[in-house]
Amino acid sequence: MSQSERSYEETLVWYFEEEIEGEAYFHALAEYFDEPGAAEKLHVMAEVERCAADTMRPLLKRHNLETRDEDALRAGAVTRIGKDAKRTWPEFVDHVVDYFPIYVPMFEALENMAPPEDHAALERLTDHEHVTIDFAKREQAGDSDSARPMLDYITLCDGKG
Ligand SMILES: [Fe+2]
Repeated sequence: MSQSERSYEETLVWYFEEEIEGEAYFHALAEYFDEPGAAEKLHVMAEVERCAADTMRPLLKRHNLETRDEDALRAGAVTRIGKDAKRTWPEFVDHVVDYFPIYVPMFEALENMAPPEDHAALERLTDHEHVTIDFAKREQAGDSDSARPMLDYITLCDGKG
């Protein structure tokens, strides 16, 4: 089924599950990098995914949507670490900058399908991709505070901002 054939509700479930998987994936991927600070930044990327998933929880509830078991999703995600484990940290960061922008229009498309009451949460969902890409660009540029956009996002998401 292509993205355009999925209903709004199906897409919400799909993306929520992907964020749950992403959280587990990045936490697990952190084990594979020796470069100073790399693991820590991957754990922050994982927390951004966790926040993105949390942002969607009220929407799932509002639309009475069931998702697959989260522990099973997490367990499955960590078995799919392939190419990323073989990259150096700079290669992984380049991959994020080059590849992750493809997700932005997908999240924007979801915003466009949504009823007005879901918009704020979905804008925040789209933002999680922007802060991750922003982080990777800062990391490429050697910014010593490269994780800042992600840390600010997590603070806001957890209601501490
Ligand atoms: Fe994500």
